[in-house]
Amino acid sequence: MLPEPPVSTFASDNASGASPEVLQALVEANDGYSIAYGDDRYTSELRSEINTLFGREVATFLAWGGTGANVVGLQALIRPWQGIICTQSSHINVDECGAPERFLGSKLIDLPSPDGKLTAELVQKQLGVLGIVHHVQPGAVSITQATEYGTVYSVEELKEIIDTAHQGGLRVHMDGARVANAAVSLGCDVAEFTSEIGVDILSFGGTKNGMVYGEAIVVFDPELVGAVGYLQKQSAQLPSKMRYIAAQFLAMLKDDLWLDHARHANAMAQLLAEGVADIPQVTITQPTQANAVFATLPEEATSTLQAWSPFYTWEGDNEVRWMTSFATQVSDVEALIEGVRAVLGN
Ligand SMILES: Cc1ncc(COP(=O)(O)O)c(C=O)c1O
Repeated sequence: MLPEPPVSTFASDNASGASPEVLQALVEANDGYSIAYGDDRYTSELRSEINTLFGREVATFLAWGGTGANVVGLQALIRPWQGIICTQSSHINVDECGAPERFLGSKLIDLPSPDGKLTAELVQKQLGVLGIVHHVQPGAVSITQATEYGTVYSVEELKEIIDTAHQGGLRVHMDGARVANAAVSLGCDVAEFTSEIGVDILSFGGTKNGMVYGEAIVVFDPELVGAVGYLQKQSAQLPSKMRYIAAQFLAMLKDDLWLDHARHANAMAQLLAEGVADIPQVTITQPTQANAVFATLPEEATSTLQAWSPFYTWEGDNEVRWMTSFATQVSDVEALIEGVRAVLGN
């Protein structure tokens, strides 16, 4: 017999609602009139907060969603004969319906990686074709931090990849849909694994971490800034009432709410991983370093559990993904663990 299902679902960190602070900020931003397309006081305040976060002047653009932020950022990095190195499991490769290829008019050079991470070696191997006219020229590397597998690059790993990329003349994009989860996992400032080590453009996630919608495109290289506004508009990622995204980000940055949210989500994933680790039929397949738990369990158990509380199966044989968020409660985690034990006769 299965117990009561968890209140929150483990299907996605997007399945949770928005945090009360964010909703309150939306209500306050709704008061009165503001100039559209980013010429408002919320966006200007946010831009200076983001400068403070990175300890220097950067260029911040606000977009509707993560796919859009990635598409805008990637376009700024390459020319039509160039391609983007990424992992096969990256969101830009498998979850954006080919949007990057469509907007870039170019190729994603997608490399297999069992843990969702690129390495300097993998990148280096692609550079042998540089200068050969018959081959798509690697023009940029796209790194997801935290990865689609809930793993997190160390600062050292990132430095090696970025240095290799830059030595080959390539640019570096970071898909930071879960950048907050990476920051708390590493225990360092976001600048330490982005701007300070040579990331050129960052998609800075907001939605998964407690906003209603909205992501930021943070451009670190001043040379790239000029193009981004035009690309943003052409790619349908220039929200007219931008103040609503800016106000949400401001609420997230205030008193480091964004980090508190991510810390909580990561802790819930740890609790879940620890809670199922000793079940003989369950194998954790990836290190739990952010807010995702990947595991294998018998197929029949998976379908029974999915009918009880939704979550997704993943790439590996009998592999499942359980995502936690800022809104996941300890009781939800306990309910899932109890459900898994009940189905597996533990
Ligand atoms: C790694 C990663 N990047 C970007 C996104 C943003 O996607 P969306 O376009 O749905 O906001 C997601 C959402 O699942 C993601 O997991």
